[in-house]
Amino acid sequence: MSPLDPELLDVPEAAAIRDWATERGILILAHSYQDGFLQEAAHFVGDSLELARKAAETRPETICFCGVHFMAETASILCPEAEVFVPDLEAGCSLADSCRAEDLARYQAHLERKLGRRPVTVAYVNCSAAVKALSDVICTSGNARAVIDSIPEDEPILFVPDRHLGGWLNETTGRRMVLWNGACEVHELFSVETLRELQAAHPGAITVSHPECPKPVRDASDYVLGTAGMLKLARETSGRTFLVGTEGNMLYRLRKEAPQNEYVAAPGASCACNLCPHMQRNTPEKLWECLNRRAPRIEVDPEHARGARRALERMLAIV
Ligand code: 13P
Ligand code: SF4
Repeated sequence: MSPLDPELLDVPEAAAIRDWATERGILILAHSYQDGFLQEAAHFVGDSLELARKAAETRPETICFCGVHFMAETASILCPEAEVFVPDLEAGCSLADSCRAEDLARYQAHLERKLGRRPVTVAYVNCSAAVKALSDVICTSGNARAVIDSIPEDEPILFVPDRHLGGWLNETTGRRMVLWNGACEVHELFSVETLRELQAAHPGAITVSHPECPKPVRDASDYVLGTAGMLKLARETSGRTFLVGTEGNMLYRLRKEAPQNEYVAAPGASCACNLCPHMQRNTPEKLWECLNRRAPRIEVDPEHARGARRALERMLAIV
């Protein structure tokens, strides 16, 4: 599909793109980690859970998903009759890549032999459809506590793929889940040293960090919240400064929807931008081309889709 079609390089304003899509029955969804233009062009902006719910409830004929591959795949699984397009098929996720279905199947069998029973597999939504299909239930950063709490205390749990989110859940629920050794390449780079310096420079500021951050960063934060939780807290707060430990584009959404506060990005260890390179693959030009060409399209293996839908629907029934 590349290079871009020269006739499509003249990209309209974000609001005009949204209207253009509305006229053609296309629902544009965008994650809060997309840049400001893509957020403005979308009909709906949300966290992973909100976007999954929106797809499941709205049941549009066509979705253009501005996010990363696993998110668009989830929309397609929950909305099987919809055609789901993405600006860039290569927009992946380091967490999803850290857990291959064949490795998970082997590890599940190993644990079953070791424990004498099959553990409940809980998968963070940042994983492939094939991994979701091997899992009993899915969770997102917005509902992970509730999903874990819904599992009887005596059931052993294998949590995949994020070791930091899993570690935070073990701390906050008192469970002793076995954790897969995956991590997000963006959140893993937040450093507690630079966060402490920022806190010293902004006395009285509220520090919020995503549960994908390493433990020292989480421990130095006032709140550990997914992106929807951060937005809720910001909307309910006034006249404060927030130090924000998550992907950099979240600040666009916070500033737009809760402008009564100030927001400062907590810098990563090696760079201050904190942008997810996968989310950044989506650009206004690629969005416009994708809408016009109705491509590239997300295709999910039907076998994987069936198993993944069961695990996703179990999650949606909990919260
Ligand atoms: P949310 O679950 O908060 O939407 O975050 C998704 C994600 O990719 C975090 O890195
Ligand atoms: Fe994946 Fe991390 Fe990017 Fe989220 S921020 S999509 S977890 S690589």
